[in-house]
Amino acid sequence: MTDINVLTPGRIGEFDTRNRMIMAPMTRSRALPGGVPSELAIEYYAQRASAGLIVTEGVAPSAAGLGYARTPAMESPAHVAAWKKITDAVHAKGGRMFAQFMHVGRIGHSANRYTTAPLVAPSAVRAAGQMWTDAQGMQDYEMPRALETSEIPGVIAEYATATRHALAAGFDGVELHSASGYLPMQFLSTGSNTRTDGYGGSVQHRIRFVVEALTAMIEAAGSASRVGIKLSPAMPFNDIQDDDPVETYTTLVKAISPMGLAYLHVLKSAPLPNIFEILRPLFAGTFAAGGGFDQASGSAALASGAADFIVYGKLFTSNPDLPERFAKGAALTPFDATTFYSPGPKGYTDYPSL
Ligand SMILES: Cc1cc2nc3c(=O)[nH]c(=O)nc-3n(C[C@H](O)[C@H](O)[C@H](O)COP(=O)(O)O)c2cc1C
Repeated sequence: MTDINVLTPGRIGEFDTRNRMIMAPMTRSRALPGGVPSELAIEYYAQRASAGLIVTEGVAPSAAGLGYARTPAMESPAHVAAWKKITDAVHAKGGRMFAQFMHVGRIGHSANRYTTAPLVAPSAVRAAGQMWTDAQGMQDYEMPRALETSEIPGVIAEYATATRHALAAGFDGVELHSASGYLPMQFLSTGSNTRTDGYGGSVQHRIRFVVEALTAMIEAAGSASRVGIKLSPAMPFNDIQDDDPVETYTTLVKAISPMGLAYLHVLKSAPLPNIFEILRPLFAGTFAAGGGFDQASGSAALASGAADFIVYGKLFTSNPDLPERFAKGAALTPFDATTFYSPGPKGYTDYPSL
């Protein structure tokens, strides 16, 4: 046991953090048509700059990777210019910020996209379920087109290009969203990856997409210390299923441990309650644990050595000054899930700080 708690300063990559609290990536669906973040996002993120690190909502590295209504991208000069205003506002308040790259793969609908290209995924396996579209209400997920082997380097290159754009937009680093059933996790998981080429089948083949995407992002960023990754082993969200998640994720984490990444963020979910204990010893770098933490459980996890940082999601939506509230033992404002994805300032920028 140590006396480290969530308010103890820390270090991520090459910068110091004021505390050990990471604001989780959270899609908030307030972006403008065409994937440009709105002006409201400047205030939203600046209000939360006291987190040790902010990770943005999922950002599509390319038009092909965008699947949800009112979600942002990192593809065009207009995207970069809009993000630059946000990173400037966060930096002006002493905060640090990574962009999370979220390529949805098969989890999308054409009514939400600014490209007419079909969804792409490791295999033509449609996800069960529905998603919201502004134009047509709830719609079934569409059938994705399986990527040709020859197309995969191009998808990987999109992450590299987006990394260069994010750094141009002033981000301190980038995170590969390899969780929650989106494209990288679709490659990792046996239920969505039925390929027979070098990207499917054996666990070594299924982890290849993630390893290559990280490698490309590191090269584009010029340093692995500016690149993080998020995993959610065995989380069933978005109809994802894997025959042996412990084998998949222990193999993956052993493969990426030597890379020197800024951090590994693991989201714990019910099917694998001991996932931190399984993965932490396999990863040489900074380990960030997320999923249902409060102040006490977060500090306990740090003190026991179970993690180096704690990731807070929902609590940050309604408590922009969450570190200060923890420091003062102040009451927390409950979050309102009905405004998580609704347009406009309500439930977004209107939660007060102390
Ligand atoms: C409104 C909302 C949107 C989310 N969007 C994303 C996302 O874009 N990318 C991602 O990796 N996780 C996303 N998540 C999951 C969070 O990052 C986090 O892992 C999860 O909320 C668990 O942490 P918590 O219990 O502290 O909220 C989202 C969660 C919420 C509540």
